[in-house]
Amino acid sequence: MKKIIIAIDGHSSTGKSTTAKRVAHALQYVYIDTGAMYRAVTFLALQKGFITTSIDKQGLLSALKESTLSFVHNSALGRSEIYLNGQNIEKEIRGLAVANQVSQVAKIPEVRTYLVALQRQMGAQKGVVMDGRDIGTVVFPQAELKLFMTASEQVRAQRRFEELQQKGEIVTFDQVLKNIQERDYQDTHREESPLQKASDAIEIDNSHIPLEEVVSQIVQLAEEKIKA
Ligand code: DC
Repeated sequence: MKKIIIAIDGHSSTGKSTTAKRVAHALQYVYIDTGAMYRAVTFLALQKGFITTSIDKQGLLSALKESTLSFVHNSALGRSEIYLNGQNIEKEIRGLAVANQVSQVAKIPEVRTYLVALQRQMGAQKGVVMDGRDIGTVVFPQAELKLFMTASEQVRAQRRFEELQQKGEIVTFDQVLKNIQERDYQDTHREESPLQKASDAIEIDNSHIPLEEVVSQIVQLAEEKIKA
């Protein structure tokens, strides 16, 4: 059967990765979380001491070129996990240290060029659902199906606030809302590949639509493209 590329971009905390994972599962496609790749490079930079008051870009780039970055399917968990130089770093990349630095690392043009090339290789055989900020605009502008996910700031902040509370983190709703606003600003205003809706992307505002409904809408759109 014909395989396609599904690009999912959008704002932070819109449920892109959960949606992308479910869509990939339903179509038996490979899910690629490009945010995890930027996080992995940030982890490498921290591990090697390249982040001080500034970032040693040359040091980071050569370390990156000597590293292996890959996704390995964990059949017990039914999902892929990210590995850097043979080490599973899923847990490390979700921590605060990485979260605090990742947008600085994601701004470095050479890091983006390197990761975009890797992402294109990963999607070369098609049959992938890739989520990020620049998938439909830069990585795969020719993707057969492009989605742009969004939701109101208030709804996203509420979802993130509940997630953090469940993890036992002590934060106020206003702090979470401010963080979301800052991340939106950084994502949309950076010089290198800012978050933009591709002109041919379908916008999905999931403020008031349950996850399952969004997933089945996307699967249906994908099936139409596959048949076309
Ligand atoms: O989706 P996320 O929160 O895991 O992304 C982590 C960071 O990487 C965030 O600052 C946005 C950035 N990113 C990017 O610049 N381009 C992508 N394709 C994916 C993520």
